Amino acid sequence: MPSTCVIGLQWGDEAKGKVVDLLAPQFEIVVRFLGGANAGHTVVVGGDKFKLHHIPSGILTPSVMNLVTPGVVINPATILQEVETLTKRGVKVGSQNLMLSDRAHIVCPWHILEDQVLDGSPVAGENIGTTLRGIGPCYRDKVGRTFAFRLGDLYREDFRKRVFDTVAAKLRMLAGLSETPNASFPLDAEKIYEEYLDYANRMRPFVGDTTAYLLDAVDADKRILFEGAQGTMLDVDHGTYPFVTSSNASGAGVSAGSGVPFRKVEKCIGVSKAYTTRVGGGPFPTEQNNEIGQCIRDLGGEYGTTTGRPRRCGWFDVVAVRYGVRVSGVDSLAIMKLDVLSTLPEIQLGMSYELDGKKITHFPSHVDDLRRVVPVYETLPGWQSDISKVRQLKDLPMNARKYLDRISQVVDRPVGLVSVGADREATILD
Ligand code: GDP
Ligand code: IMO
Ligand code: MG
Repeated sequence: MPSTCVIGLQWGDEAKGKVVDLLAPQFEIVVRFLGGANAGHTVVVGGDKFKLHHIPSGILTPSVMNLVTPGVVINPATILQEVETLTKRGVKVGSQNLMLSDRAHIVCPWHILEDQVLDGSPVAGENIGTTLRGIGPCYRDKVGRTFAFRLGDLYREDFRKRVFDTVAAKLRMLAGLSETPNASFPLDAEKIYEEYLDYANRMRPFVGDTTAYLLDAVDADKRILFEGAQGTMLDVDHGTYPFVTSSNASGAGVSAGSGVPFRKVEKCIGVSKAYTTRVGGGPFPTEQNNEIGQCIRDLGGEYGTTTGRPRRCGWFDVVAVRYGVRVSGVDSLAIMKLDVLSTLPEIQLGMSYELDGKKITHFPSHVDDLRRVVPVYETLPGWQSDISKVRQLKDLPMNARKYLDRISQVVDRPVGLVSVGADREATILD
């Protein structure tokens, strides 16, 4: 397999973790290049469930080196907890299979407070509904530079002074942002310094220069798998802005977030559910806020891996996925959770959008237009039989194959992988 990226095509939670775990044995390196603890990637092996937030899903494959690169924003407490949980469950995690970039930015307590304060300030008339993990504020400081901390900064002599200076500034900023008069914020510089120093010491074995490591790997023609987080529709530039995350979650982010030249990323697998889900605010044209949506939520266990929030559910949106495929440069599709649709007598595909009574072929750039589009559906018959044990395309019921064929045709990409259950084994590879 050439160097490949795995990118979500919808609004996240497409089951990217499962795809990466499945493909990892064919690669030498797995790279997580964006996002942070807002991501929750689930891998199920022989009935054992692992939930990963920062650590790449290659960690369950012993031969693989896992890198967390500069584009990621690391929450030290969460990543150390992940290491501890994996170790307790018998997964070996050490400097031989995990490296964290010293260039990656660090989520600090003020970022979480800022996320909470701003959560009460709607944008475009609606709450973004972030994961409250401090992701937006941390990326804001990264771009703003003045108050940013990179992992490598935790080991520098001026670290203590910078924490004190930043806390003083952040207290002023938070007071200004808050709508509660005289609000106080629990930021104690000395405590934060001590806490982060302890994290720094515990993370030390893993800290390294992932960029140098990857550039050498590229020169040596090593096989690299890039693990996307979030999804193309949550991309800060190309997604449903402002209801997006704060980084480039489409294929566009692979090179910037990892440091691998874009011409060296040879293949892109686009991951999509056989239907659509979204967590948080923002437009969702094919949403089924009714008993069908509830049925998909129940059958698909559609509750957030990170926050436990119920996911909004709806039909497969061809317009959004086709846009995602083109933006991310996808070669083939992985269609996940097909089993979830197995009991439905009929399945709908959102084929196109109408805006003000006119069919549109492009994906609207403004959230106000996207809110007003009316999807035009095509109805396909369901298969109404259990497909969770099927391992070959030819053994799928005819109507399930027709559904996949139709998706492939209208999205204009081949389907290379179909998932019919959470476990690694419950997979059909073409
Ligand atoms: P990610 O963030 O893209 O890695 O996806 P999540 O892990 O947040 O959400 C996907 C959920 O679906 C997880 O609970 C997986 O265990 C589960 N899952 C993955 N593939 C399948 C499948 O084919 N069928 C079913 N029923 N569940 C699946
Ligand atoms: P994985 O990698 C689904 C959503 C949040 C919110 C918006 C902004 O598991 O697919 P943020 O905390 O990033 O500022 O929130 O983005 N969001 C996700 N939704 N899966 C994710 O990650 C997500 N990461 C962020 O719900 O709507
Ligand atoms: Mg997830």
